[in-house]
Amino acid sequence: MTQEIIYEGKAKIVYSTDDPNMVSQKFKDDATAFDGKKKGQIASKGVRNAAISTTLFKLLEERGIITQLVERTAEDTLLCKRLTMFPVEVVIRNYAAGSICKRLGFEEGHKMKKPMLEFFLKDDSLGDPLVTDAHIEELELLTRAERDEIEQLALKINETLTKFFAERKVLLIDFKLEFGKDSEGNIVLGDEISPDTCRFWDAETREKLDKDRFRRDLGGVEEAYKEMLNRVES
Ligand code: TMP
Ligand code: ASP
Repeated sequence: MTQEIIYEGKAKIVYSTDDPNMVSQKFKDDATAFDGKKKGQIASKGVRNAAISTTLFKLLEERGIITQLVERTAEDTLLCKRLTMFPVEVVIRNYAAGSICKRLGFEEGHKMKKPMLEFFLKDDSLGDPLVTDAHIEELELLTRAERDEIEQLALKINETLTKFFAERKVLLIDFKLEFGKDSEGNIVLGDEISPDTCRFWDAETREKLDKDRFRRDLGGVEEAYKEMLNRVES
């Protein structure tokens, strides 16, 4: 197989494959936070996030969401459909945590009246700012139809994941999704869903079981990823 690096991100390396419509994504143990200002490693994160993301993408496929995943080809590697990614990150918040607390003064753990959708521009040089519908339109980040379809997909994904995690005694606080278009023009879920891209709290103790343990130096980082893999596989 000809494998050339197409793109190296903070947490993944994307390789070309023999098939121009497929890429191979290798999940790394590297972790960053605060626009890369904080750097570290989380032992076994690559393998665990690849496993967690595979299970969740398969679950979503069963519910009719088209995802990028084809198959897990190695412990830390997923074969995926090649997509043209939209330049936005899509965040759904069920409870307040993280940047929305700083931005709007919500208390951490405040339950939203309904799932809250936000878009962020993927641009490291600008610090991935929040963008409104007016910004999305003026910058031509998404057409109105794409924006609306992405909203419907994100809300459906939230319903599926919230129920799945509730059955495993986990509160899905918030999460980030990335979408792209495949060669046929379908809007497809890409990237990953893992403790790097979601906030998970134990439903009883409210203990954090995600990357906030790394971001905030809370200790027990590897253990949190291990615990989330166990719960996802239970
Ligand atoms: P935020 O509270 O920092 O805006 O993050 C919202 C959610 O998005 C949270 O679950 C973490 C996730 N996230 C990413 O996956 N990548 C990022 O670069 C950022 C900033 C957040
Ligand atoms: N991954 C992002 C970064 O390095 C932010 C985060 O997950 O907190 O900046």
